[in-house]
Amino acid sequence: MPALGVNIDHVATIREARYRELPNSPNAEPDPVAAALVAERAGASGITAHLREDRRHIRDGDIRRLRSLVATKLNLEMGASEDIVSIALEVVPADVCLVPESRREVTTEGGLDCGGGRDALRPVVRRLRERGIRVSLFIDPVEEQVLAAAELQADFVELHTGGYANAEGAKAEQEIERLELAAALAVRSGLRVNAGHGLNYKNTAAILGLTGLEELNIGHSIISRAVTVGLAEAVREMCAIIAAARE
Ligand code: PXP
Repeated sequence: MPALGVNIDHVATIREARYRELPNSPNAEPDPVAAALVAERAGASGITAHLREDRRHIRDGDIRRLRSLVATKLNLEMGASEDIVSIALEVVPADVCLVPESRREVTTEGGLDCGGGRDALRPVVRRLRERGIRVSLFIDPVEEQVLAAAELQADFVELHTGGYANAEGAKAEQEIERLELAAALAVRSGLRVNAGHGLNYKNTAAILGLTGLEELNIGHSIISRAVTVGLAEAVREMCAIIAAARE
């Protein structure tokens, strides 16, 4: 059974929507670290957070607190730029997942170009692994990328499931076949296999049988669902405060 890594970026997205200009406010909420601890208590096997160059959601301080408080394991998602690599080398999360990053994108769009980018990626993978960090490369499920990831001596590939998540019917079946071919090739090439992006409560079950699949990283859908299933309790608590003041 694959493990679940919960991506808590969007908890920080909500905080930043209100407190970007007041990062030290005692009212700054919600706290992504508190959310990570709730996710762990509910069964998550790991916590994933993306420290983006533009710090649009997760901040450096969140990563440091996650590193000291997460009891399962921290998977730091990041681009391969030098300033972020040096933070990873200092913080030493259990895992790093290298992703392509562009400031204009809403979320990570495609996978890494492990072949074209090999000269830049090779020393980053080496330095992180020398520090004892397991390295995963986020790639599209295509043969060329799997082989290039193996050549870079990554520990894992994280297969990009966005193409599958956005497809329907026969196209979704084709996308599962692509994922399966890539997963099987990764295992034959000595890589371990994770997957993620766009997975939700409807489309996750169909990919659980992928060869070698060890971990799914899921964020948006879980945080979205938390808003719906948690809203009733949040309203009840505020009603109770108001009612108590009336009495
Ligand atoms: N895996 C990677 C590499 C990602 O970039 C993301 C998005 O931050 C996820 C998993 C989670 O994607 P989603 O939020 O769509 O579940």
